[in-house]
Amino acid sequence: MTRDERLAALEQIANEVRACSACRLAGGRTRAVPGEGDADTEVIFVGEGPGFNEDREGRPFVGRAGGLLVRLLGSIGWQRDAVFITNVVKCRPPDNRDPEPDEIAACAPYLRRQLEVLDPAVVVTLGRHSMGTFMPGSRIGQVHGTARQADPTTGARDATVLAMYHPAAALRTPALERESYEDIARLPGVLQRSRDRRAGIAAVAAAPSAEPAADAVAPSTGVVAAQAPLGASIQTAEPPAPADVGSQLTLF
Ligand code: URA
Ligand code: SF4
Repeated sequence: MTRDERLAALEQIANEVRACSACRLAGGRTRAVPGEGDADTEVIFVGEGPGFNEDREGRPFVGRAGGLLVRLLGSIGWQRDAVFITNVVKCRPPDNRDPEPDEIAACAPYLRRQLEVLDPAVVVTLGRHSMGTFMPGSRIGQVHGTARQADPTTGARDATVLAMYHPAAALRTPALERESYEDIARLPGVLQRSRDRRAGIAAVAAAPSAEPAADAVAPSTGVVAAQAPLGASIQTAEPPAPADVGSQLTLF
């Protein structure tokens, strides 16, 4: 997919979300919150659901939890508009209650389609409900800060999942906030390893069938990785240059 095709596909999904009434959360929303970010990104953050401020603005993570998310990203030299940010449910649960399983299930096709379009190298889950989609059966206290391969049926064809606490939980508990900084510090390395793995897979896919695939997989050649499309919109070595924030923000 080209960038323009991705932008159009994300806009199409966002328009469907804004018109959606597939679950009871439609009745209580002010604005649906489809998600936003860089259509070329390699990294998608998935939270739980819109809160009070998100519901008013139609944008994800714009309240206090969003402030912490921006600080966490800043601690590794990233800016929020370099990634894509969305939620498992796109409409605010009343009084910020947890989303119900049937609401998560009703909304899941939108997240799956966003993942299919973006084809991220890394999915960062924020909180238990997002973790439940990508690491079912796990316990957040045990898996936060750890990474594993995404199940392709989530829509993330070839991604690594990194689990984190929800920023709102981290705001309530200083120990979780400290651990969140440690967890996000792993993200650049997780991204690099996922890139390397995806480049290896791309090289195998491109290899002539007569060639033994094992040659193409060897991760130490460097040549293979250099040939693979990395879409390196995120710098892992150095912080990105200060951005003209307003002009870079893409809303979906
Ligand atoms: N909490 C979430 O899970 N998502 C948001 O968008 C904001 C707060
Ligand atoms: Fe539709 Fe999702 Fe909103 Fe429910 S939460 S109405 S499924 S967009």
